[in-house]
Amino acid sequence: MEMKKLVSLCKRRGYIYPSSDIYGGINGCWDYGPLGVELKRNVKQLWWKEMVHSRRNVVGMDASILMHPDVWKASGHVDSFFDPMVDCKSCKKRFRADEVEDKKCPACGGELTEPRSFELMFKTFLGAVEGTASTIYLRPETAQGIFVQFGNVLNDSRQKIPFGIAQIGKAFRNEINPRNYTFRSREFEQMELEFFIAPSGNKEWFDYWVNQRMKWYKDIGVKEENLRVREHRPEELAHYAKKCVDVEYNFSFGWQELEGIADRQDFDLSQHTKFSGKNLTCYDEESGQSFTPHVIEASAGVDRILLTLLVDAYEEEPERTVLRFSPKIAPVSVGVFPLLRKPPLAEKATQIEATLRECFRTFYDETGAIGRRYRRQDEIGTPCCVTVDFQTLEDDTVTLRDRDSMEQIRVGAKDIASEVWKFLYSGQRFRR
Ligand code: GAP
Repeated sequence: MEMKKLVSLCKRRGYIYPSSDIYGGINGCWDYGPLGVELKRNVKQLWWKEMVHSRRNVVGMDASILMHPDVWKASGHVDSFFDPMVDCKSCKKRFRADEVEDKKCPACGGELTEPRSFELMFKTFLGAVEGTASTIYLRPETAQGIFVQFGNVLNDSRQKIPFGIAQIGKAFRNEINPRNYTFRSREFEQMELEFFIAPSGNKEWFDYWVNQRMKWYKDIGVKEENLRVREHRPEELAHYAKKCVDVEYNFSFGWQELEGIADRQDFDLSQHTKFSGKNLTCYDEESGQSFTPHVIEASAGVDRILLTLLVDAYEEEPERTVLRFSPKIAPVSVGVFPLLRKPPLAEKATQIEATLRECFRTFYDETGAIGRRYRRQDEIGTPCCVTVDFQTLEDDTVTLRDRDSMEQIRVGAKDIASEVWKFLYSGQRFRR
């Protein structure tokens, strides 16, 4: 699949726009349109349901984006969140040093400078005075908001080790080379779980979370053959990690990371204890000793998952383009049309759409040839469509059309909500 075709569909149909589009865009920033925002909400909701609501031992939180500057000293970001970069002496383009081969500019073949460090955190100023004393950062990961509130959550939530804290929120990185559409952005969203454990349980919990996370990707409809787990080589490990695996997807630009699952040991809580002077330990009743919990982290990028879902669902057929989204994530669940815009048909279709809207995301469309209306829904990934036609006026049945097979069956209009529900969620697609 050529990425430029997907980019065009996403813009044309209201999934993704370049940020500040009328001013020519801004590199590494993207806006989600009416359908994109629904897809994103579905992904975040499914993650939250899976990681928080379906578990007794995980609670959520929502930290501020701006934090005390010492947080980033303690976390190691001030000292080590840099990318080495090189500049081309001829065309002046800039690249990550680890992404160039033969010390030649990938764009023009020109000579490159020696690598220099490039800070990835965005700086800003707190209050009216600009200067070193008021410098703070836009958070480069949401995880630190969880670590610095660990003590409060432990005291207030009646949780005991092992337990987790989950968060979804924006993160910012001044990436040298934002690229591959939304894959590497400068502003993006993360869904992170920090799971706190006793120091002896690392391997067991690490394996548990890798399995859980892989299962989730398959559950939301990503094709299994396009997913894999890859373990980091020792030289790849982040400064805080003893072990890390990436969940990767097979994009047209190669296998790429969607999520990192890391054994962060007690690095973060120990560092925050050291820098803040506050006690972030737990008491073990059996041994009568206090200990600093270890952490298994599952950190996923919302925008990368969205791109994955779009790429994975995209198919071109001779007479149509179709996004084969799972009904669980499709931004619109059901399209409703009158065959013609005539009053008795349009009135009935309007009533049916109002009934369906109480339970599903619907889209009502009464203009244009019916075939074109179906094609439009196929292209945005709507799993089924209901059409009111002349037979409806005689026997109160409507057609229910399946996006994937394009088959149509007749179902009773009075039971339309349960018919659509069965179609979407019971796995009984068009069993007659
Ligand atoms: N707290 C750990 C952490 O932040 P990371 O591997 O740097 O680890 C986690 O980031 C996830 O965040 C990645 O797997 C990816 O999905 C997403 N992510 C990171 N940088 C990104 C970027 N520039 N654009 C979009 N998503 C990004």
